[in-house]
Amino acid sequence: MSKDAAVQAQERGDVDRELTAIFSAYTITATLWLLFATAIGLLLAFKFGAPDFWAAKYLTFGRLRPIHTNGTFYGWASIALVGLAYYVAARSCGTRLYSKRLAWIGLWLFNIAAVTGTIALELGYNEGDLEYREWPWPIRLIFLAALVVTAWNLIGTVARRTSEDIYLSNWYTMSAVLWTCVIAIVAILPWYQHGLGQVAISGYYMHNAVGMWFTPLALGVFYYAIPKIMSRPIYSYALGVFAFWTNLCFYPLLGGHHFLFSPLPWWLQTTAIVFSVAMIVPVWGGSANYLLTMRGRFGDLTHAYPLAFIFVGVIGYLVGSTQGTVEAFRSMQALWHFNNFTIGHSHLTMYGFVNFAIWGGLYALLPLATGKTPGRLGLALHFWMALVGSFIYVISLSIGGTVQGLDWMQGKPFIQSVTDMAPYYVWRGVGGILMFLSHGVFAWNVWRMTTGVAGNADSPILAPAEAGAAA
Ligand code: HEM
Repeated sequence: MSKDAAVQAQERGDVDRELTAIFSAYTITATLWLLFATAIGLLLAFKFGAPDFWAAKYLTFGRLRPIHTNGTFYGWASIALVGLAYYVAARSCGTRLYSKRLAWIGLWLFNIAAVTGTIALELGYNEGDLEYREWPWPIRLIFLAALVVTAWNLIGTVARRTSEDIYLSNWYTMSAVLWTCVIAIVAILPWYQHGLGQVAISGYYMHNAVGMWFTPLALGVFYYAIPKIMSRPIYSYALGVFAFWTNLCFYPLLGGHHFLFSPLPWWLQTTAIVFSVAMIVPVWGGSANYLLTMRGRFGDLTHAYPLAFIFVGVIGYLVGSTQGTVEAFRSMQALWHFNNFTIGHSHLTMYGFVNFAIWGGLYALLPLATGKTPGRLGLALHFWMALVGSFIYVISLSIGGTVQGLDWMQGKPFIQSVTDMAPYYVWRGVGGILMFLSHGVFAWNVWRMTTGVAGNADSPILAPAEAGAAA
């Protein structure tokens, strides 16, 4: 592996200092949100075993849960992915950012929305049970403004490209921002916020926040980072385009699968199931494309951590999304609806896929921007604690949730299902501790890649000679 590719890139002057400052600032603030929001997640996990622990008004489960979910979604994952999208857009288009000022304004808006949203939830101001829309609507308007600014800046950057084609990553990232502007507007329009219409919009918003925002942003990062690390083109550009369009065709209508057996029209629920099955097409197509790009190089996973993070992210995408298709059937929902299996699923996808994609993208690209790598120990600790922790988390809740569902189907007293769940909650807490500790190590790694003293890890770019040897 070449040791100094990152430093050489710096010396060649390939690196745009303003872009580096922006990319670093997005990453640092996102990391602070990750630490905060998952500390809350850990506290929540232990509240299941000890509900009276820290039960003061401001520390109740009802206030803290949406602080955790909105903090991880909008503070951590959104800000980190937008920082990555800016870097990918500028580098893949061979240009500077359209406007550095807009990038800074966007960063402020994202953070102002996340801070005021957190404070509002903590003080008891919220929009009730509108999942991932719990922030009062004026605050969601600030988030929408951040999206608009980002869309403008990303599109402006891609419009300045020196090549004729728009590289695949930018299709994914630009459209993610545009789609999410639409979704966020629909989620605010007052005439959709009553009765069954509100239920339909909840399904539309909550699932599209995942499928039309985090998913395409993370996939766009894969399309840039994997070829970059491996110094080889993506296996099939056409398959990437195909997965892009099928994701757009099938995703927007599947959110109704969260409301099977509800008063929503039966045909609408069936439509959501059909589109959930159709999602196999972009998911398997996209995953195959990434894995085939890595073909012959899987031996590198034992030492090249940026690639290993991305590999886990791809597997998380494949397994988590396929699990989503299976969960959407009525027969499966009869077992898993309303219980902890769903929490396992959301952490398999948001953690196993999106988080690992972000970490892989950052470990692959941030050193190229700053010329600083983290330490080898820090990379290994982060990877293994996050992987083992999330594995324990997801497996324990998947088994526990299934036990819960079987108890309900057998008509056992509800309290029996609560008692049966107890050991699985403890295991979730154990997994959560490892995950949280890994985030502390990640913060240390971010510090070393940005403002701190660089570590001793190799450059994320695999040297061609080694690539040839491994192939
Ligand atoms: C230390 C790591 C983490 C721990 C201990 C943790 C813990 C929890 C807990 C206890 C809940 C509430 C579950 C319930 O209501 O039954 C929850 C919900 C949730 N968390 Fe986390 N979490 C962690 C990391 C994350 C991250 C990084 C993300 C996203 C990037 C995330 C996304 C979510 C989502 C989407 C839900 C709602 C799940 C649903 O309703 O289906 N979590 N988490």
